Amino acid sequence: MTVIRSVVLGCGSHLPERTLTNSELAASVDTSDEWIIQRTGIKERHIAAPGEMTSDLALKAAHKALDNAKIDAQQIDLIVLATSTPDQTFPATAVTVQAGLGIHHGAAFDLQAVCSGFVYAIAMADGMLRTGNFKRALVIGAETFSRILDWSDRTTCVLFGDGAGAIVLEAQSLPGTTEDRGVLTTRLRSDGRHKSKLYVDGGPSSTQTVGHLRMEGRAVFKHAVAMVTDVIDQAFKATGTTADDLDWFIPHQANKRIIDDSAKKLGIAPEKVVTTVDRHGNTSAASIPLALDVAVKDGRVKKGDLVMFEAMGGGFTWGSALVRW
Ligand code: UT7
Repeated sequence: MTVIRSVVLGCGSHLPERTLTNSELAASVDTSDEWIIQRTGIKERHIAAPGEMTSDLALKAAHKALDNAKIDAQQIDLIVLATSTPDQTFPATAVTVQAGLGIHHGAAFDLQAVCSGFVYAIAMADGMLRTGNFKRALVIGAETFSRILDWSDRTTCVLFGDGAGAIVLEAQSLPGTTEDRGVLTTRLRSDGRHKSKLYVDGGPSSTQTVGHLRMEGRAVFKHAVAMVTDVIDQAFKATGTTADDLDWFIPHQANKRIIDDSAKKLGIAPEKVVTTVDRHGNTSAASIPLALDVAVKDGRVKKGDLVMFEAMGGGFTWGSALVRW
């Protein structure tokens, strides 16, 4: 017997050219390099240039992922783009990317689950590929959070950055064991009772403005470790795997303390943890594919490796995805 698995063919990412250091931020708000590094691990983040949009970053990441996968854009029939900072309210940024790639067939849409967006997008694309109706998917996480930050609010503006990352998934018939390559399981959760702890204070239906990000940082922090470790434990149970079986842990990059505490609680060795929050800041839905691309390109993540992705963010939403590379 065989099952359809969503196998990763390649990945790519793109960061805006401009970097913004903690010291530069300290010149405009009451903060310091020391505070930001000690509380978050962030040293710098990338910021999109004026006129550079989420779709521009996403398109560049998509091209690099296709090159890395060694396939032509015409072979893609599904694009799922996770973002909370679309170019426009509609159409979906995914169709702008689709047009940019010259694809006129298949389906493309955006998915909004804030920082958990990439894990949600993997789950969505995996489910759609496994129906047999689609063959190859581009799964993209792309954000320009710099556009929704209140640059006078030191409690949030120091945390976020811009960027994009993408993977190519292909439906393949495989034996259906945990030795298969591809997405082995995804676990998604949300709990809207927490929707006011991390939100944007604007939107088309409420204020007719874009709004700014607002966060009760301490409250988010309090929930983060428990929530992500829960969905990771569920992924282990669903597949009969353990922390020892993991080759790499690639978490959402919000805060180094959350990453380290989660890994410790799960018994994942520090050398298996991929961390890029120091260079990228929190890029929301883009953070996992950006970190992944770094670890693939520097040779850490290799074919056959077992990789755990996890994320938690506004909503709250949270989730995990266990993938054999
Ligand atoms: O990606 C979505 C998920 N988001 C997250 O995971 C973010 C989760 N939260 C966090 O990462 C942390 O809560 C923060 C990094 C946001 C804050 O760290 P914290 O250790 O929880 O600090 P805090 O909010 O308890 O603030 C400690 C102090 C406060 O001053 P008082 O009240 O003790 O006098 C803040 O006003 O630090 C102050 N503070 C700052 N000081 C210098 C807050 N922001 C800054 C700043 N620079 N940028």
